[in-house]
Amino acid sequence: MTAPASQPKKVRGEPILAVRDLVKHFPITRGVIFQRQVGAVRAVDGVSFDLRRGETLGIVGESGCGKSTLARLLMRLEMPTSGAATLEGRDLFAARGAQLRRLRRNMQMVLQDPYTSLNPRMTVGDIIGEPFEIHPEAAPKGSRQRRVQELLDMVGLSPEHINRYPHQFSGGQRQRIGIARALALRPEVLVCDEPVSALDVSIQAQVINLLEQLQDELGLSYIFIAHDLSVVRHICDRVAVMYLGRIVELGTEAEIYQRATHPYTQALLSAVPVPDPEQRDNQNMIRLIGDVPSPANPPSGCRFRTRCWKAQDVCATQDPDTVPRAADPHPSACHFAELREPASPS
Ligand SMILES: Nc1ncnc2c1ncn2[C@@H]1O[C@H](COP(=O)(O)OP(=O)(O)OP(=O)(O)O)[C@@H](O)[C@H]1O
Ligand code: SF4
Ligand SMILES: [Mg+2]
Repeated sequence: MTAPASQPKKVRGEPILAVRDLVKHFPITRGVIFQRQVGAVRAVDGVSFDLRRGETLGIVGESGCGKSTLARLLMRLEMPTSGAATLEGRDLFAARGAQLRRLRRNMQMVLQDPYTSLNPRMTVGDIIGEPFEIHPEAAPKGSRQRRVQELLDMVGLSPEHINRYPHQFSGGQRQRIGIARALALRPEVLVCDEPVSALDVSIQAQVINLLEQLQDELGLSYIFIAHDLSVVRHICDRVAVMYLGRIVELGTEAEIYQRATHPYTQALLSAVPVPDPEQRDNQNMIRLIGDVPSPANPPSGCRFRTRCWKAQDVCATQDPDTVPRAADPHPSACHFAELREPASPS
């Protein structure tokens, strides 16, 4: 993608969202009449992080590593097996009634696929105004139509197109409609689950630029989920890399892209396309062998060990997440966390 030029990120504020040891296991059951649990898919398995006010935290990892489940937990669309999360100090999973409605208003989601997430039979005005039906207490005091037109303008669409239907817009424009709907209730946090993955490469940068601009104007905080480290680079202040339900490395943009110490992050980075052909020859790619193991039966010790070229005996017996390491510059769940050697791994 033609990414916007990298700019120094602003100093960000105190945590608005705090997530601690969050776990979501989906039971695997057998039997038709008497269902019994025979196992569990460990979709999210002990995730902790803070989202600071005004920052963008990227969450990156391969398909099935638990990104969307994490997003759904934060949106209270799923309840966790265990763990905690607070939004502005309020317990996300204990909230009920009016307090839950307030929390839900304050955190909105932008979904991946603008083709299926917009109802084709509703006009754009009705789609963007729908949150006011669900939360009448947050509806504008004056004209709803004027507020919807303001939102259309805010996301770079013509307010005159309020009566059009989704099929009359391009993919990028539909994602702008999705963003306008997410902003209708004036939330402080947006959880964006692969918001540009379904878009043409040329359109991705435009939508990312829009999200950055809205963040500056409205002081929003973003969780930005993606498969690919290259997509999140220019929008994220910090990035968390996920593997099989866990965060394996978390750091600032510079820590992840220039000083990654976890072998999995290093492998993902080595696969990022490089535009310069000379640099591409020196890219020193790491080819990960094998598939991601099943989250129903993750490997003992380090979950990455079945694909890691640096694995040693200790990796099979000791979970690196739980081993405290002195003076870590940034968290990296590896017994042998270190900057990558220039030599190609075997
Ligand atoms: N409702 C559910 N019941 C059982 N298993 C589920 C459920 N939802 C997700 N899973 C499983 O949990 C794991 C994590 O899924 P999730 O959708 O969170 O991954 P993801 O990182 O978002 O993947 P992708 O990049 O493909 O969107 C997968 O193995 C998935 O099959
Ligand atoms: S703990 Fe061992 S297996 Fe896991 S990433 Fe580090 S070296 Fe590889
Ligand atoms: Mg997903």
